[in-house]
Amino acid sequence: MLIGSQKKIPSSEITPRRVWEDRRHFLAYSSAGLLGLASSVFWGASPPGTRGAKIPGLLKGQFSSGESPTPYEDVTRYNNFVEFGADKRDPALRAGSLRTRPWTLRVEGECDKPGDIGIEDILSGFAQEERIYRLRCVEAWAMVIPWVGFPLGDLLKRFGPTAKAKYVAFETLQDSEQMPGQRRASLRWPYVEGLRIDEAMHPITLIATGLYGEELPNQSGAPLRLVVPWKYGFKSIKSIVGIRFTQNQPATTWNRLQPEEYGFYANVNPDVEHPRWSQRYHRMIGEGWLSRKRKTELFNGYADEVGSLYSGMDLKRFY
Ligand code: MTE
Repeated sequence: MLIGSQKKIPSSEITPRRVWEDRRHFLAYSSAGLLGLASSVFWGASPPGTRGAKIPGLLKGQFSSGESPTPYEDVTRYNNFVEFGADKRDPALRAGSLRTRPWTLRVEGECDKPGDIGIEDILSGFAQEERIYRLRCVEAWAMVIPWVGFPLGDLLKRFGPTAKAKYVAFETLQDSEQMPGQRRASLRWPYVEGLRIDEAMHPITLIATGLYGEELPNQSGAPLRLVVPWKYGFKSIKSIVGIRFTQNQPATTWNRLQPEEYGFYANVNPDVEHPRWSQRYHRMIGEGWLSRKRKTELFNGYADEVGSLYSGMDLKRFY
């Protein structure tokens, strides 16, 4: 997300001075040819952070992409997590202030058994599997990430959604002490996202608890983060504390801010252009600025699996 180029809020307004200065420093690197596309060589310049604990007994999940994963350093140092700043380097540098234990997820709304569930119960209650998915961002870059997690639908079923549950709304933690970026009105807090119930129940849709066989680093959305690989990256809301079954389509953060650029569905679709850049091609993070561009596939390559969810819908209208 190019927060800095939004018409409504200039970067100087939304970004604390120190972050802004960091960004100017970063842009100097960019003009030297990197242009914001990370390479492991570049990130290698700073010391690696502490890595999460290994997750034992991982199963091999279905639906994995056959591609080689993007290097760990790139996946965990080039992030969007505005709660920790507007620059893509900020989350790795600043997300240490987030406390992920204890952590409670509240599930409510149109369901028979609303309630709270603690992170330990989630981790012990659902078999963790590894699934390699491509994360395709609306800014026309992508990464391939070996996620660890379990199908969101398995979690949702426990709460007994009723026939009125047509959508699922998600909410990130709101705590400006742990998430200093929330002291600025760069976005409306907390970060919120949503899916239609059939999208949420689809076996591809994952709640990620780790990556690279290890616990999720804070900057990647610890301890619970949504991953919907056929949708643009902004749908994958991080550090989730709330899930609500709703009858009506819920509000989503980026759509609320710039509806003409970010739709509710946000399905990866090369035929639906973003107003400021093409979605036909993308580059892979970690391969360098001069690497060849890849063709973007409808639904990020999952058309066979998820295409039927949208049959009869005008995808140009419901973008
Ligand atoms: N979730 C929260 N809570 N806050 C955010 O700023 N950014 C989104 C999404 N989830 C974001 C978020 C965007 S714009 C993208 S592209 C992905 O997270 C980036 O995920 P990554 O940093 O793991 O690559």
